Amino acid sequence: MIKFIVANWKLHPVTAQEAETLFKSVLGGVKGVKNVDVAVCPPAIFLPLLNQIKVKKIVLGAQNLFWEEKGAYTGEISGPMLRQFGCRYAIVGHSERKQYFYETDETINLKLKAAFKAGLKAVLCAGESDRGASEKEVAQILETQIQNALAGIPKGRLADLTIAYEPVWAIGTGLTVTPDDALKAKLFIKKVLMNLYDRPSAERVRILYGGSVNSKNISDFVQILDGALVGGASVDATEFVKIVKIASLA
Ligand code: PGA
Repeated sequence: MIKFIVANWKLHPVTAQEAETLFKSVLGGVKGVKNVDVAVCPPAIFLPLLNQIKVKKIVLGAQNLFWEEKGAYTGEISGPMLRQFGCRYAIVGHSERKQYFYETDETINLKLKAAFKAGLKAVLCAGESDRGASEKEVAQILETQIQNALAGIPKGRLADLTIAYEPVWAIGTGLTVTPDDALKAKLFIKKVLMNLYDRPSAERVRILYGGSVNSKNISDFVQILDGALVGGASVDATEFVKIVKIASLA
């Protein structure tokens, strides 16, 4: 399976000028790098600008979307709106959305459905919050989150789904899971998908790791999983390009 590296810029950078410079540096760095898919998810307001620059090598994604297409929902952005500005992916259910914007399993499910309906591919995030959680607890948390997120979603949609295993305690902390635990999570997620759907559908879903990924640890993760969701290191063009290049060799 071709590796997939997703940049989640979060609330960075502040200016359009900086966003353009960062995007162009990343583009320049990854041009000609083969055997890896790359998506960049900037703050939504920069999508129209970056969509004008974009070349084939990088696809654009959103960090979030709303579940209705339109209506009285102040401050929200819908899937069809994102599509118009070149978005092909949407991150759904990121833990920061749960923490600061009160997203729940139910709204994540609605957002996932809305993403697919709008023709977006989704990167669904799942993972435990507590670093001390046992293997059994992690498995239970992943199962519940994934089952609830996928409720009512037909198996045909799995071709458009990527799941990012993101232990919340590893996000932005410099801590990561061990390669062994990353593998256990991947296998467990596949098992959940297989139980919910079937083996061929489960096989199609790429499983990423997210949480303090950088150019020094990425090789561990891309040997085991199908790629990474990169936060902090994705707004440093040199670092992100290194990550993409290492993933392309895995
Ligand atoms: P991080 O963020 O790489 O800064 O830990 C990952 C994420 O939140 O997706």
